[in-house]
Parts: sequence; structure tokens; C-alpha cells
Amino acid sequence: MSPSISDIDVTKLPRHVAIIMDGNGRWAKKQGLPRIMGHRKGVEVARKIVIKARELGIPYLTLFAFSKENWQRPKMEVETLLALLGEYLEKELPLLKEKAISLRVIGDIEDFPIDLQRRIKEVEEATSSLKEMTLVLALSYSGRSEILRAVRLIIEESQMKGLHPGAIMEEDLRKFFYIPDLPDPDLLIRTSGELRISNFFLYQIAYTELYFTELLWPEFTEEEFTKAILDFQRRERRFGRVYEF
Ligand code: IPE
Ligand code: IPE
Ligand code: MG
Repeated sequence: MSPSISDIDVTKLPRHVAIIMDGNGRWAKKQGLPRIMGHRKGVEVARKIVIKARELGIPYLTLFAFSKENWQRPKMEVETLLALLGEYLEKELPLLKEKAISLRVIGDIEDFPIDLQRRIKEVEEATSSLKEMTLVLALSYSGRSEILRAVRLIIEESQMKGLHPGAIMEEDLRKFFYIPDLPDPDLLIRTSGELRISNFFLYQIAYTELYFTELLWPEFTEEEFTKAILDFQRRERRFGRVYEF
């Protein structure tokens, strides 16, 4: 029987779900299509999952859409991905407004063409007061870069304030992440059968539950998303402690 929303325990929802949307290229190849058609299909799936997450009442959803390393792909593929991103930002603003979803971006936005940077900022501003859900897009994102950037900024601040390195606490470092108040992901989903993190959130996944599926991203569905949530709800999170039973 396929999982349904009614099986979900709404009192035990993950606060933050992060997804590595992988496998677009392989899906296209399987269908005898160019890779870019896989990315197109991938955008459609992302749209459905955003709607589903909102319907379930998940407060934060982060989608890994483009990594810092993805700039090394063929120029044609990068250009089409940027075009798709621009299109997405253009087309999805009404949906975000209708569903009261605010959009935030993490990553090195300065890497993008100026018109795309402007578009990103416009959508962020236009949705900033919307409170039902936060959709985070990871764009030109690298977990290592985020940590390094925070380290540089905290050193700068400490020197300015004349602080001792020993006075720096974990929470102080987090203040310099792209979104300081973004809760750590409770659940991380990766599609396409690859069992790796590929420089997505690193610091933030210390106690994240990991869920891997063989499905390629264009094959991923709302039912599969529900399945991942149910799987998460069956797990016992211990955070290094011991539970008596
Ligand atoms: C994920 O699909 C999308 C991006 C990385 C932009 P891929 O393009 O990595 O697809 P595969 O992994 O080559 O199949
Ligand atoms: C991770 O997928 C990045 C995104 C899904 C945006 P990749 O396809 O880039 O990762 P690797 O190269 O298989 O590790
Ligand atoms: Mg891939």
C-alpha cells in the first residue's frame, strides 16, 4: 500500500528537510533525451515537492539546485541551468505568494550574472514577510566554502573587538552562515542512488537523519517524499545520549 498523509504523525514532523536533487542527467539519458530535458523535468518535480512540503506543514525545505563545483560542467549545460533558474524565479513567484512561502538563497550569489542576482533578490524581498514555509535554494553552494567564509568573518570580528579565540562559541560561528537562524536539517534526502553528500551542508548535518533512494530526481514523487518522512518518523534520534527501555 502506498503511504498516505494520514499515516504521518503531525506532531513529529521534521522541522527542516534538505534534498540533494540528483540524477537529472541519467534520467534524460535513459529516455534518449539531452541532459537538459532531465533538468526541465527536475524543475517540475521540485515544484510538486515544494507544494507537498507546504501541505504537510514542514517549516523549512532546502533544495540543492546548483553546487559550486557544478560550474565545471560544459558551458552549454551551465547556461541552460542558469536559464532554467531564471525562468523558475519568474514563474514561481505567484505560487510562493499563494502558498505564503518565503524564498531564501544560500551560496555565493555573486557568482551569477547580475540580472539573475537581481531577480533572486527581488523574489527574496517580495516573499520575505510570508511565514507558512521557508524554501531555501542552495545555489553555487559549497558546504566547505560556507564554513571558510564564516571563519574568515569571525576572525575579522574578533580582531575588531579584541576577543580571545577561546571566547568563540559554536553559536558565534553560526551567526556568519548564509542564514544564521536556519535550523539544522532533521532529514536529508538524496536521490539517484549515490551515497555521498557532495559538499552540501556539512557543519549542519552533524545529527541529521540520512535517507537515500535509488530513484532519479525526475522520478521522485510526492508519495516517495511522504515515504521518506514516514521513515524518518520511525527512527530513534539519540544525539549521543542513551535511552532507557
Ligand atoms: C542533478 O542532476 C542536478 C544538478 C546537479 C544541477 P545531475 O545533472 O547531476 O544528473 P546526473 O547525476 O548526471 O544524472
Ligand atoms: C550534487 O549533485 C549537486 C546537486 C544536486 C545540485 P552532483 O551530481 O553535482 O554530485 P556528484 O558530482 O555526483 O558528487
Ligand atoms: Mg549528479
